[in-house]
Amino acid sequence: MPTLAHHKRRRAEFLNSLDGPVLLFAGGWMSRNYPANWWPFRADSTFLFFFPDPEPNAAALFDPKDGSVTLFLDERTQQDALWHGSVPSFADIKKALGVTEVQNRSELGKLVKKQAGRRKVQSLAVADSLTTAEAAAITGEALDFRSPAAIGDAALLAKIASLRMQRSAEELVDMRQAAKITHEAHVLAMAHTRPGLYEQELAGQVEGTFARHGCRPAYNTILSVRGEVLHNTHHHNLMMATDLVLLDAGAEVRSGYCADVTRTWPVSGTFSPEARDIYDVVLAAEKAAIEAVKPGVRYRDVHLTACRTIAAGLAQLGLLKGSPDALVESGAHALFFPHGVGHVLGLDVHDMEAFGDQIHYGKGRSRSQQFGTAYLRLDLDLQPGMCFTIEPGIYFVPAILRDAEFRKQWKGMVDFKLAETFLTMNSMRGFGGIRIEDDVLCTETGAEVLTQSIPKERIAIEALVGSAAR
Ligand code: GLY
Ligand code: MN
Ligand code: MN
Repeated sequence: MPTLAHHKRRRAEFLNSLDGPVLLFAGGWMSRNYPANWWPFRADSTFLFFFPDPEPNAAALFDPKDGSVTLFLDERTQQDALWHGSVPSFADIKKALGVTEVQNRSELGKLVKKQAGRRKVQSLAVADSLTTAEAAAITGEALDFRSPAAIGDAALLAKIASLRMQRSAEELVDMRQAAKITHEAHVLAMAHTRPGLYEQELAGQVEGTFARHGCRPAYNTILSVRGEVLHNTHHHNLMMATDLVLLDAGAEVRSGYCADVTRTWPVSGTFSPEARDIYDVVLAAEKAAIEAVKPGVRYRDVHLTACRTIAAGLAQLGLLKGSPDALVESGAHALFFPHGVGHVLGLDVHDMEAFGDQIHYGKGRSRSQQFGTAYLRLDLDLQPGMCFTIEPGIYFVPAILRDAEFRKQWKGMVDFKLAETFLTMNSMRGFGGIRIEDDVLCTETGAEVLTQSIPKERIAIEALVGSAAR
């Protein structure tokens, strides 16, 4: 967990960047059904960036005029002590968190008004809509978490993003910890794989590992023999010996920092010739993309490096026809690699995605309209300290490869007949998909792969799969 000094430094950096008061919210409990049956509380990531272990309903006013940070917390009641245990007093919290003042949350509107006077107060929308409505009522802003244009003032988002985009040494300690626990989960899932199990039994190994380490999944675990369904989050399928299983899962540690890792392996423990060939192309693309990472490089070029490697590999296998450059130019590769090569990673698995492309694309850059590349979530010039994923994949998606318009558009560049054999192999269940995803830190000279130790070479994977059952 980052230290008090770390959080104080981050708050000071934020205060220094501001020219007016800013009110941040942790968000409150969200109910599963009846009001007191809650989902596990998870504070808004910007709030979590400045404060460790935030309480539900916490709010904080940052005032650059006097350099104060006032925390607002729910009153300590006997009823809360009875049901949830007693919590530290305001005085203890003030000392532990090094804030200027801790005030009663029930007075929030009044106290913010008193501190701000005639000055305009800005805030941010959070996932909890009740809290967002309260923020909007206090500040008079039109806030809406679902729209990047309404999540908060664009200049304020840019200030927050410039802090959240650069991982400090202390934040990296936690990201490495998340990577380590994620390693354990992936290896355990590989080791327990055998034909005849349901996916949920492996998902249990993964999420049990996270829980044993006091972590939770950073996002809904994707564990599926239907790897071509990019975000497939149910685990009901029976795993057959001829299936590939794709696991995309990452731990979130107590501070909120997380990992996001994908590995794909054969349920039988041995890659079929087709799976081996496709796997090698994805792995080559992943390695080439990682190799391309260094300060100053545009992330879109990292993406295009992966695209060209995939195009070259698929051309060699006969699925595509033409030069890698021409194939990528035309977008033909995207019929098999229909998403971007990655995204920023930090406190959110798609870090600050809610802030929109204004944060993730450089000035004057906007999303491509081309199928596939349109899903690229990041297009900044890389800087040391940035963390992001690299996650190319090859998928055989019936809805894409049998699309009449696509077949017409890429006739002559794609061997749709050969692709059809991938859609119908494995007793008509199809090939599925392969993705390989690692978490990368841009360093002064290149890339450090935070998740490097998680096996991805075919030989290492084959040795591991099923080893717990042998
Ligand atoms: N785990 C979701 C993603 O890789 O983007
Ligand atoms: Mn990812
Ligand atoms: Mn992922």
